[in-house]
Amino acid sequence: VSKENDTALSAFEWLTKYYHHMLKHSKQGKEGYRYLLHRGISDLTIEEFQLGFAPNDTDFTIEFLLKKGFHEAMLVKEGILSLQTNSKQVTDRFRGRVIFPIRNHFGKTVAFGGRIISEGEPKYLNSPESSLFHKGKLLFNFDLARKHIRKENEAILFEGYVDVIAAYQAGIKHAVATLGTSLTDYQAKLLRRYVDTCIICYDGDQAGIEAAYKAANLLRQTGCNVKIANLPDGTDPDSYIRTLGGDAFRNNIIKKSEPYNTFYLRYLRRNFDFSQESERIRYVEAAIKHLALIKSSVEREYYLKELSNEFDFSLEVLREEIHKEQRKQQ
Ligand code: GTP
Ligand code: MN
Ligand code: MN
Ligand code: MN
Ligand code: MN
Repeated sequence: VSKENDTALSAFEWLTKYYHHMLKHSKQGKEGYRYLLHRGISDLTIEEFQLGFAPNDTDFTIEFLLKKGFHEAMLVKEGILSLQTNSKQVTDRFRGRVIFPIRNHFGKTVAFGGRIISEGEPKYLNSPESSLFHKGKLLFNFDLARKHIRKENEAILFEGYVDVIAAYQAGIKHAVATLGTSLTDYQAKLLRRYVDTCIICYDGDQAGIEAAYKAANLLRQTGCNVKIANLPDGTDPDSYIRTLGGDAFRNNIIKKSEPYNTFYLRYLRRNFDFSQESERIRYVEAAIKHLALIKSSVEREYYLKELSNEFDFSLEVLREEIHKEQRKQQ
C-alpha cells in the first residue's frame, strides 16, 4: 500500500466516524436514524456497520477534511469530494443521505453508498471507482463474512448491501453482495477459493432471475456447486426478513434453495408455450440437451424421471435421446 493510499484510507476512516457521529448526535441525522430504525435496523447493527448520515450541505465534508489537513486534490482524485463539471467547484458528494460504508476485504472503508431517505433519484449513490475502490473486485461485507463462509463451506450472494445487513442482523453471517453491478469472474473465483457451494439469493423479480442465471453460470465455471434461493415476486431478502423473520428466511428460502439444474429447467420453460404439443416436445428436446451435460448419472436419472412423468414419455426413449445427445457432444 502506497503512502497516497494510506492518506486516502485515513480520510475515509475519519469520514466514516464523522458520518456515524452525525447520524447519532445531530439534529439532521435524527431523520436518518429514524429511517434506519423504521427499516428494522437495530442500534447494534448501526454500530457494527458504522452506518451514518451525510447532512444536506454542500461543504460539510470539505470543511471537516481540510481542517484535518487533507488536500483537496487528493480528496477529489479518490472520489471523496466531487468536482462539478460546469463550475469546476468542489462539493460534497453525499447530501441528505444515509451512509453505508463500503469496506474492503481488510475491513477498511474505501467507498460509501448513500441512500436517499425520501423519494428521489438516484435511490442509491455510490462512490466512484478509485485507486482504493474497484467494484468488480470487491464483495460487500467479505471482511466480516470470510470466517463464517469458510466455516459453513458456503456463501450466500445477495443483490443489495441492505440485504446483507438485514441477514447479518438475523444471524446469517456468511453473506456478501456485489455493488450494484453483475458478478464478475474475479468475484466468482474469489468465492470459489473459500467454498464448494454458493447460494444465489437475488430479488424475486424478473431482473433478479436474469441476474441469478448469469451469476450462476460464472460460478459454475469456477467449479462451484450453485444453488438458487427463490424469493416470492416483489420481495427481496431484506423485506422478507423484515416481514417474516430470520428463521422463516433460513428455513423457507435458504434451506429450500434449489440445485442449479432445477432452476435451469424452470428458467428454460419460460421460452415455451406448454398449451401446444409441438412446443412441449421442443421443451423436452431442449431439456435433454441440457441434461446430457450432467456428469452424475444418478442426478441425470432424477431429472429424466421428472420429464418422463410430466410429459408422458417412456424413460427408455428419453435415455436413448440422452445417449444420442452425449455422443454428439463428445
Ligand atoms: P432498498 O430500496 O433500500 O431496499 O434497496 P435494495 O437494497 O433493495 O436495492 P435494489 O434491489 O434496488 O438494488 C440492489 C443494489 O443495486 C443496491 O444495493 C445498490 O448497490 C444498487 N443500486 C440500487 N439502486 C441504485 C441506484 O439508483 N444507483 C446506483 N448506482 N446503484 C443502485
Ligand atoms: Mn457508535
Ligand atoms: Mn432489484
Ligand atoms: Mn432489492
Ligand atoms: Mn430492498
